[in-house]
Amino acid sequence: MSDLRGLDHTKWTFTLNTGAKMPAVGLGTWQSKPNEVREAVKAALKAGYRHIDTALAYGNEHEVGLGIKDSGVPRDQIWITTKLDNTWHHVVEDGITSSLKSLQTDYVDLYLMHWPSSTDPNDKKKHLPDWDFLKTWQEMQKLPASGRVKNIGVSNFAIPNLEKLLNDPSRKIVPAVNQIELHPNCPSPKLLEYNKSKGIHCTAYSCLGSTDSPLYKDATLLKLAEVKGKTPQQCMLMWGLQRGTSVIPKSVTASRIEKNFELNGWELSKEEMSQLGNLPDRFKVCKDGWLPVKVFFGEGCIED
Ligand SMILES: NC(=O)c1ccc[n+]([C@@H]2O[C@H](COP(=O)([O-])OP(=O)(O)OC[C@H]3O[C@@H](n4cnc5c(N)ncnc54)[C@H](OP(=O)(O)O)[C@@H]3O)[C@@H](O)[C@H]2O)c1
Repeated sequence: MSDLRGLDHTKWTFTLNTGAKMPAVGLGTWQSKPNEVREAVKAALKAGYRHIDTALAYGNEHEVGLGIKDSGVPRDQIWITTKLDNTWHHVVEDGITSSLKSLQTDYVDLYLMHWPSSTDPNDKKKHLPDWDFLKTWQEMQKLPASGRVKNIGVSNFAIPNLEKLLNDPSRKIVPAVNQIELHPNCPSPKLLEYNKSKGIHCTAYSCLGSTDSPLYKDATLLKLAEVKGKTPQQCMLMWGLQRGTSVIPKSVTASRIEKNFELNGWELSKEEMSQLGNLPDRFKVCKDGWLPVKVFFGEGCIED
């Protein structure tokens, strides 16, 4: 664990295997409705955030783009991540073109394969015939040369699929990022360690436990937050940062957006880190039952 005392976490970045510096705290936008997300993005950028996470599948890229414009913050100071939808795997060029148009920008900083599932657009219960995520990655590998995508990565990749990708002869680029579910009830230490060992940075999604998070009632977390004089959400975000992951808390509430970004000048001790990493409960927000293929292999869909 690195010593973060005295560091300005809000300007904290993680250096990816491409050399790019990604702001450590970003605003999540899944389930942020179009009419809410424009204001949320603007509020976040005004509060100092410089990293916004969205996806074609969220149906809100256009409003995210408007929020960015409203903020007045220059484009080159903002890190934008978006994701290739499962039903667009065979048309990667069209996917990025659509996202750039919606976001009203010439490039994204990070383009992720949202899930390792090449889903048939005509029947979402079916996998595309003659196509898999290895082919999708072959297409994605062409994108950085175009300048329209600065970095490429994956999301929801468990160890077996990472191994398949990394060991494939067509793989020229190691993903810069694997965006995965990580919170104190889903710490996945082996998966995190595996990514680190391959030089793949992990971004923690659902880092607060997502909508109606059961973690907000966790006695250990509440006690820790009280002792630290911080909110439970701030404690979970600090836990994520100190594990070496970037965090992308979602909120459409201006006061929460601001509070979630107040992470300066304090840290969790080794013991506090361990307390949060060893809570007895386990749950996963994003499972794979809705996909035509299995993508999580751990017990109960929770990777170790
Ligand atoms: N790659 C993937 O497959 C994937 C999957 C899931 C998520 N993600 C990304 O990760 C982001 C974060 O995950 P998430 O949206 O699942 O959930 P999250 O960030 O863990 O939690 C969001 C929930 O917490 C509430 N909240 C936020 N700050 C709070 C605070 N300070 N006090 C009390 N409540 C607070 C929000 O409420 P309000 O909004 O009402 O304020 C919302 O209900 C997503 O938005 C998305 O960008 C990616």
